[in-house]
Amino acid sequence: MSEDLFKVTIDNITIDVPPGTTILQAARKIGGDVTPPAMCYYSKLKDSGGKCRTCLVEVSKGSEKDPRPMPKLVASCRTTVMDGMEVKNITSPKAMEARKGVVEFLLINHPLDCPICDQAGECDLQDLSYGHGNEGSRFEFQKRVFEKHDLGPYIQLHMTRCILCYRCVFVADQLTEKRQHGILDRGERAEIATYISKSLEHDFIGNVIDVCPVGALTDKTFRFKNRVWFTKPVDAHRDCDKCAGLVRLWLRGDEVFRVTVRRDEWGEVINTPEGKPAWICNECRFEKKKESDWIIEGPTHINRHSVIAQGHYEGLKMPNEFLPEVIGKKPRLFLNIHDVSEVNRPGIDLSLIEGPATSDDFENPKND
Ligand code: SF4
Ligand code: FES
Repeated sequence: MSEDLFKVTIDNITIDVPPGTTILQAARKIGGDVTPPAMCYYSKLKDSGGKCRTCLVEVSKGSEKDPRPMPKLVASCRTTVMDGMEVKNITSPKAMEARKGVVEFLLINHPLDCPICDQAGECDLQDLSYGHGNEGSRFEFQKRVFEKHDLGPYIQLHMTRCILCYRCVFVADQLTEKRQHGILDRGERAEIATYISKSLEHDFIGNVIDVCPVGALTDKTFRFKNRVWFTKPVDAHRDCDKCAGLVRLWLRGDEVFRVTVRRDEWGEVINTPEGKPAWICNECRFEKKKESDWIIEGPTHINRHSVIAQGHYEGLKMPNEFLPEVIGKKPRLFLNIHDVSEVNRPGIDLSLIEGPATSDDFENPKND
């Protein structure tokens, strides 16, 4: 052991970490498949973790001093390393089998409404069930249903999708002056609610949308307006007196459909250059929906295994740039469809209309 550092081996890879480091944090330092998935742990939220059990691992050697294996699988986000500890994640058939079981439990009450869910394409549960789940479910009973709660003008709650990870409760506790929502009841009745119908309004409460690992809390200003894989994420900033103003804009053409925090490779908010989490305020998130509100830095690099990354938008060329390469000469005529057709209403910004678009928004103006 080098002084003050513990040696830990995860899936046969050894690394030195300071005492107090959890197995999950040590695995993140190694990176790649060695890192267990985490649905409730969020390093920037104090006390998070220990709720979902997706991060279970096998400890095959407790420490140098006491090499006995731990009798049960442990939650890696809540278990700190010991010097000489040996951990198995993807090399443990037991841990892999247990993770399948956890996914099955998480999906027992989760609706399979991905085709209409705004989180589709960036949902941690979707990724988890794809990577670790079974093909079918053995659950034959009716799934839970809840009374609808209105959380106000910005945030949409779909309680049936919630996996009770508590991240949104920690955001309200740690980022806002007064928490207005929480988890009411226990067991299968447990639900996110405000008790006496209230809207969530604090300046930083919009961040609950970004920490929610599923589609239980979504952005009302973006709802049903576009699929995330059709939008192009770019990093942008503005001078804001409430937050650091470091955001990710989700564009289609030059319309800003959505504003979110910038996420790191673990899906968590990045840090500012001063080392603080770059949470964003409601004004930046919900009210600055024009490209001109922002200074665009460039396309976001999406390095997660993600359907959004498959759009290859980085280094994207416009048709007038690549067409000469493809056809071997300059096109004689190059038209913008909006200049020659009235099939859409070019004057309408779909990102700005109230609620999802309807057929009225596409009607030929001649029929008005
Ligand atoms: S609403 Fe989302 S963030 Fe909040 S507890 Fe449920 S799953 Fe977690
Ligand atoms: S991430 Fe460890 S228990 Fe949820």
